[in-house]
Parts: sequence; C-alpha cells; structure tokens
Amino acid sequence: MANLTKESGTKAAKAAETEHPSGDPRFKLVDRALKRLQYQQDALIEVLHTAQEAFGYLSEDLLIYTAHQLKLPLSWVYGVATFYHFFSLKPLGEHTCIVCLGTACYVKQAGEIVSRLEAEFGIEAGQTTPDGKFSLSTARCLGSCGLAPVLVLDGSVVGREMPNSTVERVRVMLSSQARLPEPKPAADALELEETEAL
Ligand code: FES
Repeated sequence: MANLTKESGTKAAKAAETEHPSGDPRFKLVDRALKRLQYQQDALIEVLHTAQEAFGYLSEDLLIYTAHQLKLPLSWVYGVATFYHFFSLKPLGEHTCIVCLGTACYVKQAGEIVSRLEAEFGIEAGQTTPDGKFSLSTARCLGSCGLAPVLVLDGSVVGREMPNSTVERVRVMLSSQARLPEPKPAADALELEETEAL
C-alpha cells in the first residue's frame, strides 16, 4: 500500500514536471502529440505543426516548451521554425498571401508583385495590416516552379500571376464576405476528445 502511494505520488510529480505550468488546455494538445510521437527529436516538425494548429502561431513560449520537452537546443527549434514558410512566429491576419521569391518565380516578376502589394496595403513582407485583416509574407520555392510566379492565397496555390492581377485578387479576397470555416476552438476540441475517450 505504502509502495502504491509512493508510486502514484511519483507519477503525479513527473506529470506536473512535464506539463506546462500555465494550465492552458491548448498545451494538452501539444503534450498529446509529444506522447504519441514518444518525445522523439526527429518528430520536431510534426510537434511544431500541432502547436501552431492549437495556438495559431509559434510564440517564444511554445518554442521554449517544445525545445525543453524534446531535449533539443532552443536555437535548433528556432532555426527549424524560421526555415519553413508554413510556420509563423507572429499571429497572422484574417487573410494571408505568401509570394514565392525562389529563382523561377523571381525572374517572372515575383519581386514586383511583392512591391505592389506592399505599396497597396501599406505593409512590408512579413507584416500584418494594423486592422489584422491581411498578412503578407514570402517564401523560397513552393515546389510549383512550372506555374511561376506562384502565390498562396488563404492556403490556395495560384500560379502565373502578374502584379496587377495579384493586387486585384487580394482586394477581392479582403472584400469577400465568404469566410473560411472557423477553426474549432482548441479547448472545445479537447473537451470533445476527452468525452469521446470516456
Ligand atoms: S521558385 Fe517559386 S515555386 Fe519554385
């Protein structure tokens, strides 16, 4: 009996040690991914994906937590998060546009497309408009060079664009009443999963 109490006490202490101290339920989604992937260091990208899905972007706190849980240097985790264009270290706007600046796209006016969008919406690549509606970013080769120059608008790939047509597309996108389905709040999703598991 004494042994059982000691064992459960040790387990509780271990869980408390590994869980995020904020108690934010979204961290439980990250914890589940970590457990499912057995804390393997080469699962870093998958864990970061889960973290970004749960929180919308990768805050410094999330990067530190992930590095700690996978026992990786923070500089390594930060390097991976900044290398891939699909990770964001800042909250994104309601609508997003990623312009490819890889060589095949660049020689077909991708730089000009970025300049036009920056001038039109008053932000620089890597920024979000002050009203939180639009984020503009750039990437290196999106893997669709045959369609150069390539953009990703709200997650959809668009190819063979011109500066004028892109500005027009983004204007229409921003004025559209149609919204992408709201992502299910992570906390609700968590509750649902927990109920289903019972
Ligand atoms: S260089 Fe733009 S998709 Fe490859």
